This record gives sequence, C-alpha cells and structure tokens, in this order.
Amino acid sequence: MQERQKTRRLPRLALIPLLLATAAAHGATDPLAPTAHWSAYTAGRAATPPMGWSSWNAFGTNIDEAKILGSAQRLVDSGLAAKGYRYVNIDDGWAQRRHMPDGRLEIRPQQFPSSVQGGKSTFRPLTDKLHAMGLKAGIYSDLGRNTCSQAYGGDDPNLPKGNMFEREVGLYGHVDQDIDLFFGDWGFDFIKVDGCGLRAYGAASPKVRSGAYRALTPSLDLETVTRSNIPAVQAEFKQINAALKRNNPDGDFLLSLCVWGSADVRAWGKDFGNLSRTSDDIRPSWTRLLSNFDSAATRELYAHPGSWNDPDMLFIGAGDFDANHLVEARSHFSLWAMLNAPLLTGADLTKTPQSLLDIFGNADVIAINQDPAGNQAVIAYDARDLQILVKQLASGDKAVAVFNRGFTPIDVDLTAAHMKYRADAPVTLTDLWSKSDMTFTNETKLRVAPRETRIFRAHGTRVLADGLYLSEQPGSVNPAVDGVTRPQVDPTIFRSSFAWTGTKGAGERPMYAGWGGARADSTPYGQVLQIGGTAFTSGIGILANSRLEVRNHDYRRFTTSVGVDDSALDRKHAVTFTIYGDGKLLAKSRALRWGQPAQALAADVAGVKLIELVARSAGADDEQLPVTWGDAALLSGAQQK
Ligand code: GLA
Repeated sequence: MQERQKTRRLPRLALIPLLLATAAAHGATDPLAPTAHWSAYTAGRAATPPMGWSSWNAFGTNIDEAKILGSAQRLVDSGLAAKGYRYVNIDDGWAQRRHMPDGRLEIRPQQFPSSVQGGKSTFRPLTDKLHAMGLKAGIYSDLGRNTCSQAYGGDDPNLPKGNMFEREVGLYGHVDQDIDLFFGDWGFDFIKVDGCGLRAYGAASPKVRSGAYRALTPSLDLETVTRSNIPAVQAEFKQINAALKRNNPDGDFLLSLCVWGSADVRAWGKDFGNLSRTSDDIRPSWTRLLSNFDSAATRELYAHPGSWNDPDMLFIGAGDFDANHLVEARSHFSLWAMLNAPLLTGADLTKTPQSLLDIFGNADVIAINQDPAGNQAVIAYDARDLQILVKQLASGDKAVAVFNRGFTPIDVDLTAAHMKYRADAPVTLTDLWSKSDMTFTNETKLRVAPRETRIFRAHGTRVLADGLYLSEQPGSVNPAVDGVTRPQVDPTIFRSSFAWTGTKGAGERPMYAGWGGARADSTPYGQVLQIGGTAFTSGIGILANSRLEVRNHDYRRFTTSVGVDDSALDRKHAVTFTIYGDGKLLAKSRALRWGQPAQALAADVAGVKLIELVARSAGADDEQLPVTWGDAALLSGAQQK
C-alpha cells in the first residue's frame, strides 16, 4: 500500500472533523447541548465482538468455493463454531465484473461454480450452505469504485474483468443496488467496506494515468489527517447505513469499516458501524502485532457494544504466530480478547494444527472477549516493555493481562491496586492458559517470559464497594464530542513496515489521528490525572468542550470531583462542568481554572437512563485544555457522597 499521491489541500472547514459533523447529525447548533440519546452505532448485530473466519490472510484474492467451504466445515468439525466462531467472510477477490447496463455484480464463475444459476450470478447457494451449517456469511466491498486489490494488486490474475466500467465493482454510485443484492438477494449477514477506492485513484495516480481506471478525487489520505475529507467519507458511510436499514429483510447484518485509522476515524467510526479498523493491515510479525495493538489499546472509550475497535484479523497460524511460536500466538489471542477485538481468524483452517486450534478454542479467553458488559481493557500500567491491562467483567470479576512486549523476561509486581481491589483483602487469580489458581494479598510477583501475555480472571474486594467508576465501564461511556478540534497522529516511538513496501519510500508514518482523545484513568495526553495537586487513580480525562454520554445501568447516584487537569497548557480559560440526566440539568460546577482544587459534584440519577457530562470552556479551539472527571462513579445507594 505504498502508493501515495499528493492531494489538493482542502479548505479548513472541510477538515474540522467531529464538532460540525456531530452537530449536523443531530440537527443541533450546539454540539455540547444534551441530547438524551446514545449516539454510538447500535444497528446490526454486534452486542459482542463478532467471531469467525476471513479468507484474506491465508488466501488473498486467490479464493474459491472449496477453500471457503473447507474452512467453514473445519469451524464446525473442530468445535470452534459451537464456541462462537460463526462468521465466514469472503474478502476481496470474489468479483468478476459489474454487468452493464444494469449494473448487477457478477461472481467469478470458475472459482464459485455454485454461483452460476442459469443465466444468473448469485451467492445464494453458498450462503444457504453456510446458513445450513449454522454459520453466517460475510462479503467484501469498497467505498469507492474499485477495491484494494485493484489498487495495489499489480498484475493479479484474480482481479475483475471487462472494460473500465465493468471493473468498477465498488459501492460508489451503486450503494442501494449492491446492498440490496448482498443482503436482500444473496442473504449475507456481514459486510466489510474497504476504503482504497477513496484513496488510490486520484487523477495523477499511475492506475488512472494508465487509462485502466476512472479518476475519483481521493478523500482518504493516510499520510496526514489534514488532507482527508472527513465529511465526504462520512457521507459515504451514511448512505451505506441508510441502505442497510432499507434493504435488510431479516435485520441481521454487521457493518465493518475499513479505513485503517485514517481520517480521524477514531472519533467517528463508532457512530457509523459495528467495527472500525484502527490501523493498516496486520502481518504475521511480532512488531506488526505491536503496531496494531497500540492503535486500539488507548481507545478504550471509543468501543462499546455495537461499535468495536478493530485492530485487524488474527494472524495466528503464520510467521511469528505459527505452531513453533505458541507463546506469541497465545499473546496475540489474549490481547485481542482484552481489546474486545473481533476474533476473526485468517488461517487456512484445513491446515491449522491442533495446538493452534486449541488457542482459538480457549473458552475462558473467548469469554473475556465476549463478556456482555462490553468493556474494552484499560491500561493500568505502562512502562518499560510491560503493560498491565484490566477489564471489568459483567459478573463483577476482572480480567487482567500482563504483557511483556520485549525480548527479556520481566519480574512483575502485580498489585491489588492495579485492579482497584483492596490491598487488605485476598485476590484470587485464575490463569486462563494453565488453569491454575493463586491467591495473594496486596501484591504478588509474576515472571513473564519474552513476548508472553499472562492472562487471568481476578476476584477480589473492590475499593469502591458500592458501584463502578466510569473508567471501569468504558463500554457504557461514549465520548460523543471529545473536544479534539485539530486531530493529530498519535506519538509513536516504534513503527513497523510492510512486507510489500520493504524499506522503499519514507516508511509508514503514524496515521492514527486524534491524540488528545478521551481516556480512562489517564489524561488525553497519557499523563496521570491530577487537579490542583491532587492525583486521581480513577477518572476520565478529556479535553474541554466535550460531551460524554454515559449509560446508567440502574445506579442511583453519580459522584465526581472535577477541575482543569494540572497538565493543561491553557492556564487562562475557566471550565464549567455540567451533569445532565435524560436531558435535564442535574448539577453544575463553578467556573474552574487551572490550579484550583477539584470541586465535588453529585447527582441523583435514580431512574435516569442516560447521563451526559459536559465540560464547557470559552477557550473554544484550544486542545491543550485537558479536564478531569476525577473518581467519576456510579453508585447503588441513594445517599452516599
Ligand atoms: C485492505 C484491507 C485488508 C484486505 C485487503 C483486500 O488492505 O485492509 O484487510 O481486505 O484490502 O484487498
């Protein structure tokens, strides 16, 4: 994917990503006004992250019916289907042409013989087979006129055939027709929508200059977020959302966005689809795993039931994650489980050895991923080569992952405090790979091998006995407006590169925009939360001029201590903090400036379904004004402070 083009600088207005788009979406002029409405995507069927198989990693465009049914059969025979792996997704490479003049898509007949039904090309026999096996079927398309393999596949013999118009197999200009075909006619349950068609076909691109493809002004630019036309990309997804609503007889669909973390999709992907890719493609290499993991690991507040972060498919079964690298393969699986990533294996399951099938089949780790509370793990420790991630489960227990990213063993002090458990009460850890239990009080030492992830289910006594901190329930907290007006790429120290680019070009630059996004137990810039000299180990860090939506699961009281975070550069502007319940004002702070002590706020939220937390400042366009909702918590009792 190294082919890059210069695109015209777009006017500043076209670049303001979220505030205007969100305001427009709600028909409101003030994006911070309460709406009493959860705005992240909940259409489709993604209450928990999807699990299954996809053709891309193992086969690329070289796919056929036998390969797809072979892996599907293996899902069933191995018992993985019964454990939740139900989606069988056909990625790029299935399309033969767009038949003209009616525009109906055709399937490659040699590769998919069952698709030839009289004079008609149809995937219905294949999806019927998959459904009869108890599975679900997924299909692939592109936002633009052409797909990624057409953009980057060179002389790939599996690319669509025919004249220029016949080879335009992407959704652009055909959204309703194709969505109707995929879901209404062919019976698919899942669609991945790639973005190369909006990225690689500028007038100056070699593809277009060769005369083989029509030009489409790029609206996605992976080199810099400021050159992406965010409203234009969103407008495409809006059309797809609307088409999915109209053309979906059984309501059973799942929409997967694939713009690789570009165009500040961090901030808005959750509003437009069930999955949103946070990085470019995964490769079977350890360093690539780190890149993809990092792209999602700090985005815990941007993932919820119905709208998950997607660091890409599992590459277990190849390279650094093959049967000779079980430590790495288990790490990959454990980390994706903690991130609530889709568990989509990309392996050729007909050749996958039992030792790796056992990894996919670890029911205890699957249960962490599929936990109904839908809380992505929060980073509790992050230094050296070590990260500790903690995920609140619906049962009240926690999942804990201790991840050694590096090349030497590490002796880790794991503390009850990492889990927000009391230091004076026993904590029991169940190792989800060895199945052994251990109990400790206050702290314990763990040895973690190079590249190992030790993953546990933890049971202890909560510091906050009567409720949950918001930072423990990111799945119920949505940064509807996160205050980032000038998204920037995340600072990254390490960058991997792609096999197919080698060391040509300038390297893959970080593209995951939005540094400054909302965080659990951290400021938006990765620092410890602190107001007026007082540190908070729990809380939400977000920029001023933001609005958080919080789902209230029958709690009665909301408490917090608010203020401008000590890390703010802006020491001038005051911030006012307001709490709303189902659109009604519940509590409001004084105007608070940098350096002032935190102000305690509390609100009775009994019976309230949606709480909104608004931090408003006159420093409207200043992204260096982080604020802290310290110790923000929902409590069961009505009267506690
Ligand atoms: C892009 C996507 C991949 C895959 C290929 C298909 O690179 O990110 O996941 O779908 O396109 O060409």
